[in-house]
Amino acid sequence: MPMLTAHAMGLGAGPMIGFDPAAVAERFDLAKNEIPVMLIAVGYGTKENWPQKPRRALDEVLTFA
Ligand SMILES: Cc1cc2nc3c(=O)[nH]c(=O)nc-3n(C[C@H](O)[C@H](O)[C@H](O)COP(=O)(O)O)c2cc1C
Repeated sequence: MPMLTAHAMGLGAGPMIGFDPAAVAERFDLAKNEIPVMLIAVGYGTKENWPQKPRRALDEVLTFA
């Protein structure tokens, strides 16, 4: 929902799970039962941004045995 809200406001948003949860908890003074599981980077895109990075076609990366 926060990402959809950001997009609706004309902002770009990207999820990130590659972070140090303990450091985030300390920085934001979180309680012991508050566990950060994902960060969302939000900001205005630049002209150089593209809507989505190139993706390989599904049949190039997935086969059913
Ligand atoms: C749940 C989730 C977690 C992600 N965590 C990271 C991350 O920690 N670091 C990172 O560089 N990209 C992360 N990504 C990927 C980026 O958010 C983004 O999807 C990727 O750079 C591709 O961008 P695009 O979808 O605009 O092409 C994550 C994506 C998802 C769905």
